[in-house]
Amino acid sequence: MSASADIAMIGLGVMGRNLARNMASRGRRVAVFDRAPGLAAQMAGETQIVPIGTPGELIAALKRPRALMMMVPAGAAVDEQIEALLPDLEAGDAVIDGGNSHFRDTIRRTERAASRGVEFLGLGISGGESGARHGPSIMAGGPKAAWDRLGSLFNAIAARHNGEACCAWFGGGGAGHFIKTMHNGIEYADMQVIAEVYGVLREGLGQSAADAARLFAGWQTGPLASYLVEITAAILATQEPGGRPTVETILDRAAQKGTGQWASVASLEMGIAAPTLAEAVAARLVSAVKTERERTASGLGRAARPHDGDKAALIGDLADAFLGARIAIYAQGFAVIAAARGLFGWQELALADVARVWQGGCIIRARLLDDLRAGFGAAPAESNLLLLPTIVTTLTRVEPGWRRVVAAGALQGWPMPALASSLAWLDGMRTARSAANLIQAQRDFFGAHTVERVDAPGKSVHLQWPQSGENGAGG
Ligand code: 6PG
Repeated sequence: MSASADIAMIGLGVMGRNLARNMASRGRRVAVFDRAPGLAAQMAGETQIVPIGTPGELIAALKRPRALMMMVPAGAAVDEQIEALLPDLEAGDAVIDGGNSHFRDTIRRTERAASRGVEFLGLGISGGESGARHGPSIMAGGPKAAWDRLGSLFNAIAARHNGEACCAWFGGGGAGHFIKTMHNGIEYADMQVIAEVYGVLREGLGQSAADAARLFAGWQTGPLASYLVEITAAILATQEPGGRPTVETILDRAAQKGTGQWASVASLEMGIAAPTLAEAVAARLVSAVKTERERTASGLGRAARPHDGDKAALIGDLADAFLGARIAIYAQGFAVIAAARGLFGWQELALADVARVWQGGCIIRARLLDDLRAGFGAAPAESNLLLLPTIVTTLTRVEPGWRRVVAAGALQGWPMPALASSLAWLDGMRTARSAANLIQAQRDFFGAHTVERVDAPGKSVHLQWPQSGENGAGG
């Protein structure tokens, strides 16, 4: 076999197959391999595709320095594949992981590959099956030299937004997979908000799926426009042959593969509050215990009651609440990214570039990102999107309706953890003088954990407190 291929694609599931075709359509010669026999052969005859039968042939088919991309399930399979490849690779070759890997695994694998002189790139790739084929959003991390060599290929296959590639390198090690993890945290939270809005429309307003579909379709023409709103409108409008809405044939138990949880754990590790991202994971977990929900509903009674006010007004308010919550979700996600940039030394990571890469191709693409990109572009040092002027204007506009929705939810018993927690978070963020002085006092009272006095910040002091029980309340 002649060494004629520009890149290898290892793992020919739906994502690997489609990325290989995307690369081939941009003029690259792609050697395709899967350890499941027969998968590569199914692509025989496709332009610029070279089906490979054995790992040895794969190495021989590649031009040097070699580039081998893996699209295998995240976890042990990635390590196994790397270990299988390393003995046959040479210094200067590059291995690329395009799966949903944990960024700490990517950091470890980068070091492992580097110990053999091999460069390792971790790419977060979003956009599902169609994105992989026609243009995904690509979030890259790894050695800069490897990106300088291979970045043009990934720029070529990425989605375009206003002519620009939705692809960027964010720093060494796990930077790309970290950005993808935060993408997924935002994805979970945005999906949860949409589901909560749908729940209010269905349970609070008694709307049919078709009514809700029309509402979401209408929102697609305004500031809420996004891929997830677009597909929600399409999903709600879909009917079974007998006319029953397809969405109503689906069991209300949400699954997850774990990346939303990773984003929440990362936020806690970075010391940044991202409560709405965590609420979205928790809401999926609550959804998963359907039997317990059924038992509780029959034991305690069902909470949700129909809306008892102006229906049209509530619908307008729901749009405002949705936009407010979406802003809060992005603000939380970007704050975590900004903290990670400092912690991991990803100095090149610009929040405006993250917004740009998310503007097209990915699951969370949304009109809001146009504002965020422009805002961060105008103020590159700003890491708090709540301070971007256009966001301040929008939040001020949507705030009253958002509050009315959360208040109605509490009164009528409509579950809305994401809509409510995002508002609570926002209120906390705009409270310059919080109640945490009492937390500090309690810590110092029971554990001598010390406090800082308002007149001497930075200096830890232990205060004198009455003994617990002295006032007759301590037990
Ligand atoms: C994407 C998605 C994708 C993710 C799915 C499923 O950007 O294309 O984030 O990578 O795997 O959305 O995630 P869950 O199964 O955890 O919902």
